[in-house]
Amino acid sequence: MSVPESKYLSPVWRDGIFKDRVVFVTGGAGTICSMQTRALVRLGADACIIGRSVEKTEAAAKDIATVRAGAKVLGIGGCDVRKAESLQAAADRCAKELGGIDFVIAGAAGNFVAPIEGLSSNAFKTVMDIDVLGTFNTVKATMPHLMRSASPRIIYVSATFHYTGMPMQAHVSAAKSAVDSLMASVALEYGPRGVTSNVIAPGGIADTEGMARLGSGEEAERAGYVKGIPSGRLGTVRDVADATVFLFSDAGSYVNGQVLAVDGAAWRRQGAI
Ligand code: HXC
Repeated sequence: MSVPESKYLSPVWRDGIFKDRVVFVTGGAGTICSMQTRALVRLGADACIIGRSVEKTEAAAKDIATVRAGAKVLGIGGCDVRKAESLQAAADRCAKELGGIDFVIAGAAGNFVAPIEGLSSNAFKTVMDIDVLGTFNTVKATMPHLMRSASPRIIYVSATFHYTGMPMQAHVSAAKSAVDSLMASVALEYGPRGVTSNVIAPGGIADTEGMARLGSGEEAERAGYVKGIPSGRLGTVRDVADATVFLFSDAGSYVNGQVLAVDGAAWRRQGAI
């Protein structure tokens, strides 16, 4: 897939700022996380992306590697963040093959739109397991490697649903609250050891699986959703990638324990994504 650079990276960033850095990304084949990874790799990082589907993950890794000559991008499929051992094996393999882990993006998430009466306890638990336990497993598996890095950073990809609650998203709202809380505990516990731990909370991002599932996109335009966003537009994957570059760059080194909503102030206006 050929993606013009302007789609995932602002021209303000400089070549090579992430040279010799390695990023480990769960859910790295997904629309948002693959663009975050693409931006970091373009700016010098090597990357390891993790996913459940072998085919999708390996294809995404190959594709991301094309953004910079000499980039190393490892795709590890068949890895479920709910299974601590498989994640640990992936983190160890990443460190062995790429020389360490400096940055982590905990991006793997599960979602579907369902009313509470349509949610079985297993359905609720499934999303809690992927989002919350999966994020915890990611932190645990990568922390020994992060402890050896000169600039250890973690970003969790969360959401804004839970600030107000959201119909048809009770499971996700509960899970993302827990992810935000875990982020804060990691910031306090590992801040003294040099780790920064922050959440990026995307709002409605155009052309993503999430927006498609919510039945938004063009429909949202028609329904006036976009008009209600104070910044006057849906977000782009580049908006999220740029926030990621900032938090992982030297410019972001004192930002710790924070939630950075990349949503054009949407949730403040309408409490929605
Ligand atoms: C009600 C549902 C359901 C639905 C699944 N379940 N889909 N319940 N409505 N639409 C129930 C199942 O019936 C089952 O419960 C339980 O959930 C587990 O389902 P499985 O299919 O066995 O689980 P699994 O194979 O582990 O798949 C997990 C998944 C799936 C979350 C259900 O959608 C998935 O793999 N998603 C990963 C990708 C993803 O969701 N990406 C979107 C991220 S976007 P029972 O009781 O029958 O056993 C994002 C941004 C927000 O997060 C976007 C806003 C929408």
